[in-house]
Amino acid sequence: MQVALSNESPDEALKTVVRLLRESSEYYDWVGIYLVKEQSLVLASYAGEAETEHVTIPIGQGICGLAAEQERTIIVPDVNKDPSYLMCFPSTRSEIVVPIKGASRVLGEIDIDSNRLSAFTLRDREMLEETASMLATYIQNQGSTPQSQESR
Ligand code: SME
Repeated sequence: MQVALSNESPDEALKTVVRLLRESSEYYDWVGIYLVKEQSLVLASYAGEAETEHVTIPIGQGICGLAAEQERTIIVPDVNKDPSYLMCFPSTRSEIVVPIKGASRVLGEIDIDSNRLSAFTLRDREMLEETASMLATYIQNQGSTPQSQESR
């Protein structure tokens, strides 16, 4: 994963991360990275069979928006039982959202949908929180290079 972030453009790097994450588990059916832009989460990259209609999610809405607002990982073992859940794919049964926390604010998040009920374990959570922390360092470093002057 570190290698993915070392020699690529930011777009390519995020694309590689979502692809590697998806390939890392048979039950990670859709993997996305959203980045915070003003008061919303904007989909930056995803790996999965289908596109989502939720490419922009206001902070506070859906599981994604709640995780960003509350700055904590949210695991939903059964999406059909969670009233906050915003449906993207009819096949999804469970979801994990892990915030990418910068020094002073949430920068984005990793969102994974699984077609399996109660798919996500403590081990998934720990691995994804580690990945999110690595992404936070990467995104913050991008912010201090001339590349970030491009409006992204
Ligand atoms: N289910 C999310 C929306 C994003 S899709 O899963 C890709 C939510 O409830 O916020």
